[in-house]
Amino acid sequence: MTNTSNRFNNKVAIVTGGASGIGLAIVSRLLEEGAKVVAADLNQERLDEMSKELGDSFLGQKVNVTSEGDIEKLVSTTVDHFGGLHVAFNVAGASKPGAIMDLAEEDWDFTVDLCLKGVFLSMKHEARHMLKQGGGAIVNIASLNSHVPMYAGSAYTSAKAGVEMLTRNGALEMARANIRVNAILPGLVESPLTASLVENKEINEAYMERIPFRRAAQPEEMAGPALFLASEDAGYVSGASLLVDGAWNTSGYPDMSRFF
Ligand SMILES: NC(=O)c1ccc[n+]([C@@H]2O[C@H](COP(=O)([O-])OP(=O)(O)OC[C@H]3O[C@@H](n4cnc5c(N)ncnc54)[C@H](O)[C@@H]3O)[C@@H](O)[C@H]2O)c1
Repeated sequence: MTNTSNRFNNKVAIVTGGASGIGLAIVSRLLEEGAKVVAADLNQERLDEMSKELGDSFLGQKVNVTSEGDIEKLVSTTVDHFGGLHVAFNVAGASKPGAIMDLAEEDWDFTVDLCLKGVFLSMKHEARHMLKQGGGAIVNIASLNSHVPMYAGSAYTSAKAGVEMLTRNGALEMARANIRVNAILPGLVESPLTASLVENKEINEAYMERIPFRRAAQPEEMAGPALFLASEDAGYVSGASLLVDGAWNTSGYPDMSRFF
C-alpha cells in the first residue's frame, strides 16, 4: 500500500504482538508514517531480526502480555527510550480451541488470559502514562468473533467479546484524560495464526462460501484502519468497533463442527 503521509511524525507507539501478522503490518505502517515504534512480543528471535532491519526508530522488547510486570516495564522502557507514549495497539493474541464440553480449564485460561487480560493490563499501563502526558489513543484488536460464535471457539469468542466491551469501558473512563479507545474487528486475515486454516482446502472453501469478498485479508489491510483510529482524523471517535471483514458480518459464520 502506498503511503505519503507523515501522520505519526514525533509520535511514539507500542504494538503488542508486533513481531508477526497484523501487529507486524501495523509496526511497518507506523514506521512509514514517521513514528518511533516499540514492538512487544514473546518472539525474541524475530524481534532481534526486526531490530537489525528497522534501525533506530524501532525497539523490540520481549514481553508476555499476561504479566503485569512485563507490561509496566514495557511502558517505562518505551518512555525512557523514545521520550513518551502517544499511541498503542494491543494486538497480541492466540487461542487453544475445543468444544465447551471437552475444553480443559488450562486451555480456557490460556486463551482468555492472553486475549482479554493481556489487553486489560496493556490498556491500564499505557493509559497511566498517557494521562500524565495529556492524552493519547489506544486501538485494541478484537475480532468478528466478538459478535459471531465459532464452533469450538468459546474461549476465544468470549475473550474477544470482552475486548469489545473493555474498549467501550475504556472509552467511557478515559475520555476525561483525553484518551480515545477503539477496536478493530478483523474477519479472516492471512497470518501465521490462520495459516493452517487457510491452507486446508476444505476449511478454506467453507470460509469462502461465507465471506462475501471471497478472499481472506492481508495483514496490511488491518493496518490502515487501525492507524486511522489512532490518528487525528479520528479525533472525535472513541468507543467504536470497526469491522474490517470483507462484509462477513452480513452473512454468518460457516458450520465448522464437521472439522472436529
Ligand atoms: N488472523 C486473523 O484472521 C484474525 C482475525 C481476527 C482477529 N485476529 C486477532 O488479531 C491479533 C493478531 O493476530 P495475527 O493473525 O496477526 O496472529 P500472529 O500469530 O501472526 O501474531 C500474533 C503475535 O502475538 C505474539 N504473542 C502471542 N502470545 C503473546 C504473549 N503472551 N505476549 C506477547 N506476545 C504474544 C506472537 O508471538 C505473535 O508474534 C490476535 O489478537 C488475533 O486474535 C486475527
